[in-house]
Amino acid sequence: MSDGPSQSAAKVTALALASRKGGERVVAVTAYDATFARLADQAGVDIVLVGDSLGMVIQGNSSTLPVTLDEMIYHCRAASRGVARAHLVADMPFMSYQASVEDGMRAAGRLIKEGGAHAVKVEGGVDVAPLVQRLVAAGVPVMGHVGMTPQSVHAFGGFKVQGRTASQREKILADARAVADAGAYALVIESVPRKLGAELTQAVRALTIGIGAGAGCDGQVLVMHDLLGLELAWKPRFARRYGNLGEAAQTAFAAYAADVREGRFPTDDESFE
Ligand code: KIV
Repeated sequence: MSDGPSQSAAKVTALALASRKGGERVVAVTAYDATFARLADQAGVDIVLVGDSLGMVIQGNSSTLPVTLDEMIYHCRAASRGVARAHLVADMPFMSYQASVEDGMRAAGRLIKEGGAHAVKVEGGVDVAPLVQRLVAAGVPVMGHVGMTPQSVHAFGGFKVQGRTASQREKILADARAVADAGAYALVIESVPRKLGAELTQAVRALTIGIGAGAGCDGQVLVMHDLLGLELAWKPRFARRYGNLGEAAQTAFAAYAADVREGRFPTDDESFE
């Protein structure tokens, strides 16, 4: 019998996560509302990421580029209500930080103050290092994001694996070092060869969290729709389905529709006197 919150109920902080570099692997997943954030939190996930992937999996866009800061704040605030223990990270959306450090400071401030985020995530490397430094100095934990950075989809010519050529590899290494040296406590590494994922993990002090970057990272992150099988027609090579919620939802909707049409729902027990 427990007489209080167990050790495992302690809140996950950026500091605690950073201390797990090279140790127990870190588990991160995206969520965009209170219900799924709560389910992930209660399942013991370490990091709930309110990713700008919501532009694709929630809003139905073909990229993350249309997502606005107000939309990120809305979803982050919702997710924050579901999180009791996990570390809550919010993505800085496209063009909320690329034009100037001041823009980035204000955008991060809103995600923390209005969205309830514990940390913010920025894509990029050498170019965003000055912003990372300023945010960290202001007391905002920062997660970087290198490799295939989705906000640069047009520059990459699509969502393509990065780091296969020597020059790409050098650039990603320099970017990862710049962001980690600027004080980022963690770094998402997306869609790079697994050898490079492991090399980056050795090269930086920051905790590395891979998505399509192999098993050599300090942790892994998946988009919840991929993990839960919510997108029936889509499964990226790097994702693993741990559920078939898309099929389960379709089956439930169809059963409900049939019951309504056949007069089986509602019954007297499901009605008021
Ligand atoms: O937006 C997002 O969900 C992300 C993850 C893919 C890491 O950045």
